[in-house]
Amino acid sequence: MSKVAVITGGGSGLGKVTAKQMAEKGINIVVVDIDQESGQETVELVKQAGVDAFFVKADVSKADEVKNYVDQAVEKYGTIDYFFNNAGISGSGKLFLETDVNEINKIVEINMLGALYGMHYVAEVMVKNGGGSIVNTSSSAGVIGQSTVVTYSATKHGIVGMTKSMVAEYAKDGLRVNAIAPGPTETPMVKKYFEDNPEMKESAEKGIPQRRLGTPEEVAELVTFLLTSDAPYINGDVIRIDGGFTSTK
Ligand SMILES: NC(=O)c1ccc[n+]([C@@H]2O[C@H](COP(=O)([O-])OP(=O)(O)OC[C@H]3O[C@@H](n4cnc5c(N)ncnc54)[C@H](O)[C@@H]3O)[C@@H](O)[C@H]2O)c1
Repeated sequence: MSKVAVITGGGSGLGKVTAKQMAEKGINIVVVDIDQESGQETVELVKQAGVDAFFVKADVSKADEVKNYVDQAVEKYGTIDYFFNNAGISGSGKLFLETDVNEINKIVEINMLGALYGMHYVAEVMVKNGGGSIVNTSSSAGVIGQSTVVTYSATKHGIVGMTKSMVAEYAKDGLRVNAIAPGPTETPMVKKYFEDNPEMKESAEKGIPQRRLGTPEEVAELVTFLLTSDAPYINGDVIRIDGGFTSTK
């Protein structure tokens, strides 16, 4: 029987490319996103690989909408084998003291609460059914400190904490939970950030030992490796994928 993956933020960037790569491995995909149009596009894309897929619209910062995408996945496929807990937003790039509290709340609600709700409802299904594998999306900003991303960094460090602590509680039940910490990667989110802050792109590339941004394909390969059975004994880890960026800090 085909395995089943749920991917949040599946309409764009890392989520979309990971959905495509996992579909090419014959895995059925539940695409979750707040943006219906892009989410549907990903569904059509992955179906070309011959797998089954459907879209669930959800704002991951709303617990009831998270429970709904989990319920729909289980209703259709009976279980969830793989979960890419990935939806997230960046901030405005302002210094922290110039950042509005509404922005702080929004980033925390989506990046941190959204990830916690996702793990809560998905892990419940996985533990009940004998196990599963989760990859949470952290960031370079989740493993080092950086200017202009204080709130984002707080949420991405939080992702690292929730990843490690979930393993302490549920690895014995067959759950694997890992996090990825990508450096700047050429997805729509980053393209927009660099359009709004053009001086940042050049300095970002200069700060990366490999002197280029990452590609979504490179990150998707890592996620697929971690999620699937190719990595059965990697658990509670945070894998940096950043061209050497954080290793030089
Ligand atoms: N691109 C990078 O350089 C980079 C680096 C490190 C970490 N990340 C992280 O990777 C993840 C994916 O980012 P990306 O670069 O692919 O961005 P992206 O903007 O291309 O994709 C993010 C997707 O999440 C969806 N989304 C946003 N808010 C949502 C919500 N409340 N509920 C449901 N879906 C929502 C968006 O509609 C979009 O489809 C994020 O968690 C981001 O913080 C990205």
